[in-house]
Amino acid sequence: KVGFAGGSWTLRYVPEESKDKVISDEDVLGTLLKVFQALFLNDFDKQSEILTMLPEPVKSKYQDLLALEHQRVTLLENRHQQQNILKPEEILYKTLGFSVARATSSLISAGKGVFVTKGLVPKGAVVSMYPGTVYQKYEPIFFQSIGNPFIFRCLDGVLIDGNDKGISKVVYRSCNGRDQLGPLKMSDSTWLTSEINNPLAVGQYVNNCSNDRAANVCYQEFDVPAVFPIELKQYLPNIAYSYDKQSPLRCVVLVALRDINQGEEFFSNYYTIVS
Ligand SMILES: *[C@@H]1O[C@H](CO)[C@@H](O)[C@H](O)[C@H]1NC(C)=O
Repeated sequence: KVGFAGGSWTLRYVPEESKDKVISDEDVLGTLLKVFQALFLNDFDKQSEILTMLPEPVKSKYQDLLALEHQRVTLLENRHQQQNILKPEEILYKTLGFSVARATSSLISAGKGVFVTKGLVPKGAVVSMYPGTVYQKYEPIFFQSIGNPFIFRCLDGVLIDGNDKGISKVVYRSCNGRDQLGPLKMSDSTWLTSEINNPLAVGQYVNNCSNDRAANVCYQEFDVPAVFPIELKQYLPNIAYSYDKQSPLRCVVLVALRDINQGEEFFSNYYTIVS
């Protein structure tokens, strides 16, 4: 129990029974790679410094993909649009067939929620990521946790602080700066701003279900594998609190439990421990 100036201490968690994964880790990885690669290609002009650091085969893979994309756009006679940079949500729609965004929740006094803004979400799709600083079980999260309702506890006790304000924001930014290798960023910090680079990084705003709103998405943990392409890490909305080369980065994604239509809001199912 933390007794600090009347501050309360809250943790979100899902019960042990929900540890069975709805989709495989390979499927989560596949989706993230697909979306991040599309974001990378869309942002290609700004990636030149990073490209110089990549091995030749990787570089030419992206150049080929880009050429293919341009060819496709030209074929569609959108010549004047060819150079257009799409918004991240549009990339999401193009890649997965749906886009998501934050908006005022349909629940009274729930603040913000997350909605399907366009398209149809098929059952089993990854619809959001839970952004934030990742703390190992034994790491101190004292000041960041006071009055902070955005801390998610994984089944193994790992914590993810998804608060985009206050000390939490400062901590995330400093970890992100620490891990940066020249132009290569190891994570995305734009979820802390209003201009989000990775449109999936809104999972902390998904509201809990209630009597008349059944859960349509669920949390699923995902460890970023060692083979994850270094140039795409700039879209990962998570970073380890302590620099640690050994353990994989923990992410939490939200997965659709059924088909979800355009205009529908996401509802998950979590509990909280308050002290
Ligand atoms: C979330 O919703 C479920 C089902 O309605 C409820 O049992 C649970 O207590 C809620 N969690 C919170 C944190 O309110």
